[in-house]
Amino acid sequence: MPDTPLNGPRYGVIGCGMMGREHLRNIALMQGSEVAAIFEPDAEMRMRAAQIAPRAVMVESIEALLAVPAVNCLLIASPNDMHLSQLQTIAAIRPLPVLVEKPLVISQDEIGRLDAFRQTYPAPVWVAMEYRYMPPVARLIAEAEAATGGIRMLTIREHRFPFLHKVGDWNRLNRRTGGTLVEKCCHFFDLMRYILKSDPVRVMASGGQSVNHKDEMYEGEAADIWDNAYVIVDFASGARAMLELCMFAEGSRYQEEISAIGPSGKIECHVPGPARFWPEHLGEPPVAQVVVSPRTPKGPRTIDIPVDPELLEAGDHNGSTFYQHQRFARAVAGTGPVEVTAEDGIWAVAMGLAAQHSALTGQSCPVDSNFGTRL
Ligand SMILES: NC(=O)c1ccc[n+]([C@@H]2O[C@H](COP(=O)([O-])OP(=O)(O)OC[C@H]3O[C@@H](n4cnc5c(N)ncnc54)[C@H](O)[C@@H]3O)[C@@H](O)[C@H]2O)c1
Repeated sequence: MPDTPLNGPRYGVIGCGMMGREHLRNIALMQGSEVAAIFEPDAEMRMRAAQIAPRAVMVESIEALLAVPAVNCLLIASPNDMHLSQLQTIAAIRPLPVLVEKPLVISQDEIGRLDAFRQTYPAPVWVAMEYRYMPPVARLIAEAEAATGGIRMLTIREHRFPFLHKVGDWNRLNRRTGGTLVEKCCHFFDLMRYILKSDPVRVMASGGQSVNHKDEMYEGEAADIWDNAYVIVDFASGARAMLELCMFAEGSRYQEEISAIGPSGKIECHVPGPARFWPEHLGEPPVAQVVVSPRTPKGPRTIDIPVDPELLEAGDHNGSTFYQHQRFARAVAGTGPVEVTAEDGIWAVAMGLAAQHSALTGQSCPVDSNFGTRL
């Protein structure tokens, strides 16, 4: 494994559902770090978390978690609509370095309410954007400038399985997630800004619920999350980007496919979905690829990007959760920067909110440096 600090982070973890436990498995692979304490209100999830992190103290509240002296950083992996209030509680009691799952917040109102926190929080805040750290995506980003001569068009396509079931079914309702284009697609909007090194100015979208969740009710409320969309984004640099999301396409060989094109050529990557969903009878799961296609001389070149099987086994995100924790560990130790800042997290949410708004109104939605037009 690549280097990790000797005295690594000792995490206090808030929420140990599917993603929280992916974090636990990856922290367990990082030399010098450990999970010191866990707050998880659901008994079944607590039990499963204890199997992965048997030395962690189980506590009954965030306050109790913050009182564990060994804890020197925090991970928030609770449902989306709890992130803001939990950050505010932490800020008031013991502001430690924190890795908070995306989306950072879920509404324009919450973006406003995050202001005071952002301006005064004295420790690193890192928003979990695992897709930046997927080895094939990282390779595309590293080679994009040389392969394209400056990206003018960027397309991100996600063809995947429907939303999974979550504890308490929080992910079925827009009011708890921010809507599909915030909840899930904030990853892709973050990637667009990160890859293009520019901020968006305008978003146009069409999206809705076409196939999945149509007959689902939750305590009298109909599931209103969307399962497909197209989103076009204009950037200040003049580059344009497009997202295509389809959540009834789990039969696909690859889950995420990204292409970047400029005057010199094209670079693409193909990223498989979670290995655990690949049917055994089809043999080994697909290996991620990067394809470089110059304009002259023509000659597409395909490069396999295999990922350490131990890292693939530890999560659903092509090894990226481990690499993100390594970088976060450096930020906690003060030896590396925060690579995904609260500002990045807010931009990604603002773009998602603008896309939801555009799809609902049929109008393009401007986005500005105050993180979006008031919707
Ligand atoms: N970065 C990624 O690729 C990625 C992938 C999946 C999920 N996520 C994010 O991770 C977060 C958790 O999602 P998940 O898929 O693990 O959902 P989940 O429902 O599986 O897990 C959420 C957990 O939080 C617990 N919880 C509920 N209320 C809580 C509270 N007040 N305090 C602490 N914990 C509480 C639940 O009991 C549950 O175990 C969400 O914000 C989600 O958007 C990110």
